[in-house]
Amino acid sequence: MKELFDLTGKVALVTGATHGLGMAMAKALGKSGATLIVNGHTPAKMESAIKAYKEDGIEAHGYLFDVTDEAAVDKNISEMEAKFGTIDILVNNAGMIQRTPAMEMEVADFAKVVNMDLVSPFLMAKRVSKGMKEKGGGKIINICSMMSELGRNTVSAYAAAKGGLKMLTRNLATEWAKYNIQVNGIGPGYFATEQTAPIRVDGHPFNDFIVNRTPAGRWGDPEDLQGTTIFLASKASDFVNGQIVYVDGGILATIGKPYGEE
Ligand SMILES: NC(=O)c1ccc[n+]([C@@H]2O[C@H](COP(=O)([O-])OP(=O)(O)OC[C@H]3O[C@@H](n4cnc5c(N)ncnc54)[C@H](OP(=O)(O)O)[C@@H]3O)[C@@H](O)[C@H]2O)c1
Repeated sequence: MKELFDLTGKVALVTGATHGLGMAMAKALGKSGATLIVNGHTPAKMESAIKAYKEDGIEAHGYLFDVTDEAAVDKNISEMEAKFGTIDILVNNAGMIQRTPAMEMEVADFAKVVNMDLVSPFLMAKRVSKGMKEKGGGKIINICSMMSELGRNTVSAYAAAKGGLKMLTRNLATEWAKYNIQVNGIGPGYFATEQTAPIRVDGHPFNDFIVNRTPAGRWGDPEDLQGTTIFLASKASDFVNGQIVYVDGGILATIGKPYGEE
């Protein structure tokens, strides 16, 4: 059954894969045999990322461009297609969050988050879909969030964008199923990344909230996303379309429990 998950001969592109969750998912695709292309935005981070992939035995091909810039997306994907062939797998991972109370948020800042987290996955998907249609199929994985389902103070723009990304996923799945393109999403829960290191300590109120709120009783490890990524990128998911898989330790399955309850 291993061949169901084998990505040998496939070309995979992961946006925002210079570190964090994007890198963990990209490594999973590279280790499953795909030719791996990684996108990022900052030259120094790309340089250290390529070294990190290499240390893990993966040859990653780096492309620096802004995923919100349609002309840059078109130019870079054309170059990738010329060099590696059709993109078979796209992971729309690059994203941003801004925490500002809604009453204080500038409309321009709201629009910036929506542009990054919702419009850019659309333009990336639109651009790669042409090659996928011609080749007879493809896989698109949109990185959503628990905020695709739930609200939380100060993240109105992020929740609006990630909720929209869930519906974009369903709609593209509906439109492109006839071309054998599967469009699905992954909704990560709370993950231990460099950014969350300062608050992932015993006694920190947010750490205690997460550990208490998550049935699994822990933060996610970026490697926890790898199995779902391989599944949604591979033949194993050929009849799975328009779904969001929440990799969240069970948070969305529960209403939670009072503090102190075992
Ligand atoms: N971390 C979590 O717990 C969590 C939970 C739920 C959902 N998510 C989602 O998962 C995804 C990754 O999260 P993360 O925490 O790993 O993010 P991160 O650490 O902030 O990394 C973001 C990545 O996106 C790249 N990037 C930023 N702006 C870009 C642009 N305009 N064009 C191209 N690349 C750009 C960055 O590249 P450079 O570093 O090169 O600038 C970096 O590689 C996001 O969509 C996020 O919303 C994360």
